[in-house]
Amino acid sequence: MTSQEIRQQFLDFFKSKEHLIVPSAPIVLKDDPTLMFSNSGMTQFKDYFLGYKEPKSSRIADTQKCLRVSGKHNDLDDVGRDTYHHTMFEMLGNWSFGDYFKKEAITWAWELLTEVYKIPKENLYVTIFEGDEKENLERDTEAYDLWKQFISEDRIINGNKKDNFWEMGASGPCGPCSEIHVDLRSAEEKAKVSGLELVNNDHPQVVEIWNLVFMQFNRKADGSLENLPAKHIDTGMGFERLCMALQHKESNYDTDVFTPLIAKVEELSGKKYTGILTDEKDIAIRVVVDHIRAVSFAIADGQLPSNGGAGYVIRRILRRAISYSYRFLDRKEPFLYQLVAVLQEQMGKFFPELEKQGTLVTEVIKSEEESFLRTIETGLIRVDKLIQQTISEGKKILPTEEVFELYDTYGFPDDLTRIIAEEKGLTIDEAGFEQALNQQKQRSKADSAQKVYDWVTLEEKPENFVGYDQLESETYITRYRKVENKDGEFYQVVLSESPFYPEGGGQVGDKGTLENAAESFEVLETKKENGLIISLINALPKDAGAVFYAKVNVADRKNSQANHSVTHLLHEALREVLGTHVEQKGSYVGPDYLRFDFSHFSKMTEEELALVESKVNAKIKENIPLQEFRTIPIQEALDRGAMALFGEKYGDNVRMIQFGSSKELCGGTHVKSTSEIGHFKIVSESSAAAGIRRIEAISGEKSEEYFKNLETQFTEISQLLKSKDLSKSIEKLLEENSALKSEIESFKKEKAKGEIQNWKNDFEDNNGKKLLVKKTSLDAGSVKDIVFQLKKEIPNSVTIIISDAGEKPMITVGVSADLEANYHAGNIVKELAKEIQGGGGGNPGFATAGGKNIEGIENAYQKALEI
Ligand code: ALA
Repeated sequence: MTSQEIRQQFLDFFKSKEHLIVPSAPIVLKDDPTLMFSNSGMTQFKDYFLGYKEPKSSRIADTQKCLRVSGKHNDLDDVGRDTYHHTMFEMLGNWSFGDYFKKEAITWAWELLTEVYKIPKENLYVTIFEGDEKENLERDTEAYDLWKQFISEDRIINGNKKDNFWEMGASGPCGPCSEIHVDLRSAEEKAKVSGLELVNNDHPQVVEIWNLVFMQFNRKADGSLENLPAKHIDTGMGFERLCMALQHKESNYDTDVFTPLIAKVEELSGKKYTGILTDEKDIAIRVVVDHIRAVSFAIADGQLPSNGGAGYVIRRILRRAISYSYRFLDRKEPFLYQLVAVLQEQMGKFFPELEKQGTLVTEVIKSEEESFLRTIETGLIRVDKLIQQTISEGKKILPTEEVFELYDTYGFPDDLTRIIAEEKGLTIDEAGFEQALNQQKQRSKADSAQKVYDWVTLEEKPENFVGYDQLESETYITRYRKVENKDGEFYQVVLSESPFYPEGGGQVGDKGTLENAAESFEVLETKKENGLIISLINALPKDAGAVFYAKVNVADRKNSQANHSVTHLLHEALREVLGTHVEQKGSYVGPDYLRFDFSHFSKMTEEELALVESKVNAKIKENIPLQEFRTIPIQEALDRGAMALFGEKYGDNVRMIQFGSSKELCGGTHVKSTSEIGHFKIVSESSAAAGIRRIEAISGEKSEEYFKNLETQFTEISQLLKSKDLSKSIEKLLEENSALKSEIESFKKEKAKGEIQNWKNDFEDNNGKKLLVKKTSLDAGSVKDIVFQLKKEIPNSVTIIISDAGEKPMITVGVSADLEANYHAGNIVKELAKEIQGGGGGNPGFATAGGKNIEGIENAYQKALEI
């Protein structure tokens, strides 16, 4: 059975059990400050479990793209070294939101595995929660009794809280879980050791494939558990492991999820994959085929590699792959990008984002490879120098500070430094390096450290955002919590009715005030977290339960929304002018300016920019009214021609913003009609990443200010020039300037000619050898000419000129050809240059040196006389 069939059978099975099949949510999470990536199937349903949102069906199933490379779940360092850990993997899952519970979850899991997938029953083990005294939790006998209808009791294993009680986070819904493990060993192996001993023991052929979580408790902020009003099911099955079991393989990498990628790596590198766990080449191949999936899916979902946050995690994964292939596959040129086409071919049908974003993904990976390979090459030179220096000092250990700098500042992989050092019989100070690494981590932690206290809930009430229609509202606080960070102590509050727009979709969050007759607070920012709109204020009201008046900062909001609406017009104009390959890849929309990143492969020309700008301004003048479809079914919006973006998570019902022919799915706030934008001006166009261009632009008042500034400058210049025709006047000035310059040049030449005659007479005769030491203010070019002439015309001569033209000391030395065997101009210059803190050199006949210390001229002169 192919992996595609296995995935489809899972979905078909749960469809037959009346589940709604939904697409995977994007792998990269946006607008969730608590998590960067989807790390399990239930991530996208968090709001349902927390009761913030109603699910669209009480039964759902899907396959979810997951990434476990940061935070609580981080498998990165294991990947490549074993057969079954991955950075990106698919999690097959089925959910019940207050619908069915343990009986159906267990019955269906068993039915699917043994009757549809036909896994032999004798290969399966299950675990149940054994209970926990401290938590006052009983053994899950309900699950035990259900399981024993299907599987002999000696195959039902008790598990502790660590393995069999699943919690989403420090607080929130949780419950006992039951895992299904499969034993894939040969009969011979099984006869030697019972599978019972190997469950949950890191055996590569006895692995957990499915976790059924029975959500029945809520972990409160104080750590205690309470029963949930409704009980839920959350299951997760490892797709790649399931494929290993069903395709009778010993490693996930031997399944058709990976074999086409491995074949391509073999073809490109000329290395053969032998599947050996400890073989460095095999480890490298596993790393490469694993990481290319993580990186490709993340980029397709809109997360470009970068220097911070989720982008940095992606960059590190890609660099790990490059580093392994550089070292063990001898790949010194970009090559990973060529795997994207294979991945597309294999998974593009099920995950259309890979298909549609293929060119971008390929370009981005290629350019990252190029730049990291350059880093490696320059790093190698630095390591080499460091090694020479260490050896010449008679030491055996590379200096830790420099080794860390190579890693931290230059991004050079530390394991490469280690290997190269070892080849030369040197080592690095592992403990010191570790310490530097930890100190660095502590520093960045301290910068971003924030202590968040538990919520104090005054009223359980779902969010109510009123900010699309009003900028003020009467309201009260439904919950609050204290936050401490390096700037002090603050309070986050959730309001019953909030006019404050929470940061999202590129648009900044609203600021404003919260006040009543007794108190007044400034709202410093507004964000969204797990479906709650959270505003930040700097103190807790004395009466937190009082009624307040919330007011949005109107000027900022109006400017932000003008910038947001004009971003939509810009997007449309770019697609008209450059083509429909243009797609939004990120944006910032604030009151001050807007930034818009989009896919396009070359620098925009001046003409293209002017055309885009004028198209946008034409739309502004047309005064097109906003048409807002606050909630319409997503299909209807798409049928009407709305642009949906890759990597965004859309619900069944969406909001569509239309200005004439511009239609976008968008949650932001907008002007009522385009003339409110006033005017649009692009201020820069640049590269944001490979295949991504960035436009920065302004609108409205800012655009007015921009032109006013230009006008002021224009007036000032025309006053200075006493002219209205600036181009003509400046042209004239430039002409005059160049005429003056050539006049000066000829004056200088004349002066130099005169000097030569004088200087010729100033040579001192010393037993037939002639020496001239001179100080002068002539410029460097003239000095050079003179010295050349003198050394040619005066036999047996040494000429030393110390000049200070333009405040920069300079020493020039000429030695006539017949004395070159006795005196070396380069050496003389080096010696003298010390006095002016300079450096330079040359050949035996001619040398110059520039310096920093003008004060040293006198000393240099004296020293020259001594020579
Ligand atoms: N949420 C559960 C897990 O990730 C199914 O294991």
